[in-house]
Amino acid sequence: DVARRIDELMAQMTLTEKFGQMTMLAASLVETGPPGPGNPVTQVREGRVGSILNTWGAAEIREAQRVAMEEARLPIPLFFAVDVLHGHRTIYPIPIAEAGAFDRALWLKTAKEAAEEAAQDGIQMTFAPMLDVSRDPRWGRICECAGEDPFINAEYARAKVVGFQDAPNDRNRRLAAVAKHFVAYGAVNAGRDYAEVDVSRRALHEIYLPPFRAAVDAGVMGIMPSFTDVAGVAMTAHRPLLRDLLRDEWGFKGVIISDYNAIGELIAHGVAADLTEAAVLALRAGVDIDMMAGAYETGLAMALKEGAVTMDDIDAAVRRVLELKFALGLFEDPLRGLSSVAPSPDSDPSRRASARDAARRSIVLLENRDAFLPWTKPPRKIAVVGPFADTTGEFLGAWCMAGQSDETVELLTGLRSAFPDSEIVHAAGCSIEQSDASALEEATALARAADAVVLCIGESRYTSGEAASRTKPTPSASQLELARHMIAAGRPLLLVLVGGRPFVLPQWLVDGASAILAAWFPGTEGGNALADIISGKWNPSARLAVSWPMEVGQIPIYYAMRTTGRPYDPNNGFTTNFLDAPMTPRWGFGDGLSYTHYELAEAHASQLVMGPSDTLDVSIDVTNAGKMAGETVLFLFIRDPLAQVTRPVLELKDFQKIDLAAGETRQARFTLNTEQFAYLDMNLSPRLDKGRIEVFVGTSARPADLRRVDVDVWLGETSHKPS
Ligand code: IFM
Repeated sequence: DVARRIDELMAQMTLTEKFGQMTMLAASLVETGPPGPGNPVTQVREGRVGSILNTWGAAEIREAQRVAMEEARLPIPLFFAVDVLHGHRTIYPIPIAEAGAFDRALWLKTAKEAAEEAAQDGIQMTFAPMLDVSRDPRWGRICECAGEDPFINAEYARAKVVGFQDAPNDRNRRLAAVAKHFVAYGAVNAGRDYAEVDVSRRALHEIYLPPFRAAVDAGVMGIMPSFTDVAGVAMTAHRPLLRDLLRDEWGFKGVIISDYNAIGELIAHGVAADLTEAAVLALRAGVDIDMMAGAYETGLAMALKEGAVTMDDIDAAVRRVLELKFALGLFEDPLRGLSSVAPSPDSDPSRRASARDAARRSIVLLENRDAFLPWTKPPRKIAVVGPFADTTGEFLGAWCMAGQSDETVELLTGLRSAFPDSEIVHAAGCSIEQSDASALEEATALARAADAVVLCIGESRYTSGEAASRTKPTPSASQLELARHMIAAGRPLLLVLVGGRPFVLPQWLVDGASAILAAWFPGTEGGNALADIISGKWNPSARLAVSWPMEVGQIPIYYAMRTTGRPYDPNNGFTTNFLDAPMTPRWGFGDGLSYTHYELAEAHASQLVMGPSDTLDVSIDVTNAGKMAGETVLFLFIRDPLAQVTRPVLELKDFQKIDLAAGETRQARFTLNTEQFAYLDMNLSPRLDKGRIEVFVGTSARPADLRRVDVDVWLGETSHKPS
């Protein structure tokens, strides 16, 4: 029936109306200027726009849909798209933080809640999840991905796509998810945003493509190509990856939407002479919707006349856009899900609790000398210092279009409500980027007179995210000066780091703190979540989904390095090494402390020899050997010690969360099949070798945290398989 209705509609559409469906505009549709061809309301009325970017709220949505449905020649509803990355109005921790909860159910839940809020505000599409694996803290957009590991990004992709899209029994609460940025944007040169990307085909297939494959398999409704090129081919015009791989090989049926003006930028890339050529390249590569370049509207009519594109190319794109609008229920109800009252973190009693829970599950305890935390017996007088202790909305992080500063709980507020019997004094000490002698003096005096200092420093949400690359991923000079003074004050110091990327920290700062918390950008309830951890109301369980380098020169540094012919040997100078820095990051993948400690027994395999169609159970007993209940994550890695090509020293294959009462022991069990032991051979075809696979289970990627069990893969006759 939908196909028939689309046929009927398309039969009535003019070329201009077809290009309109292929055009997305960023515009306000209420406060517009004088009528005319450039006026967005006129454009909607003339059928020259199919979707709107960055508009939400009942008044605007109603008016825009009224024009589309009542004043345009053919009544075709618009759809509205916004970057809802980590919450709409209620803001959850940024993705790289939430990834560190290593909790699929949490990832799904926060996406579902964000979708509900956004849908109430008239949004039907989100440009999320962002799946660009990144190992470069210089890149501002590292905050938007799920960290350094392809498997984690793939699992995160699945959870987010289902969370955004699959509102049970209620299509009005679903958002179409758009997985972005296809592909390898996280590998921009030197972490410089929009710079060139030149990764090997192996890296593409092993690291950068798998999260997108997972999103497609989960039914993602849209894909956005990245602004960049890959090895010289601009992604917006990358026919082999967009059409041949994504559509033909993977069977992706949804819409491909360009990034903002990315079709127009094919000219600056130097691969198109003008907008017409740019439009031809993008359409032929498979891009259905032109966001803000006006290239399809300007160029496609001429291109069609000249035979550079076909009517079939255009119709296929229009059909996909209309299918999306049907799937979202917009033809039945153009105002689907819209509420006349805007949602807020307080409009649903569960929202703040949910944001608080997500934040405390994402905040990482990096250091805790002599069990300085938790403060079950809080210091009598606490000096809360630093420009991030009482900010206006800095905790929200990048990409929160509707998040409100005045709805955000700051650290100072959180601490005051958690420790009502302590005297809590506050001074900023400096601004985020600038020193101030009298502010510094005031903070120092407060610190000297206190029993403990909480120093909250980091980077602004405006220097994280898009177009926010930095050569020095570290708190600013003014904040480091403040930190020196706070350490010199001689009181025990809790360092709280706020930001969207791993920081490279000076050794004196790490040594000078009694405890360190990576708060990331924790969202609307950040202050309460931090206070829950500091007070011990919550036993920290988050881990790092991305390594924190010791030095900028180590970048990229990540756990899954491939083997080399000269592996590091401290007794041999001619092995892979730095002369002036260690081989390991300051904190690596999976690092993160708790108020209890977990003991691992030996790992066991259900069989020591596996045939190609066997499954293997790997189990391990985990004991909470401390005095506080808690939850920990267990990772399962493999290493293939002998293959046709070099393999990573560790490769993540699974993970699970396990919660344990104090003193409790539980068994964790993983099930594996031999497909998970296969790798891409010399020709990038999947290959399973006969021979040994080392399986590691443990609480981080550090060798000391892992237990090993070996299995042999047997490829001979099953009847001859050794037992
Ligand atoms: O979705 C984003 C993208 O990540 C960067 N450029 C703008 C788009 C729309 O806001």
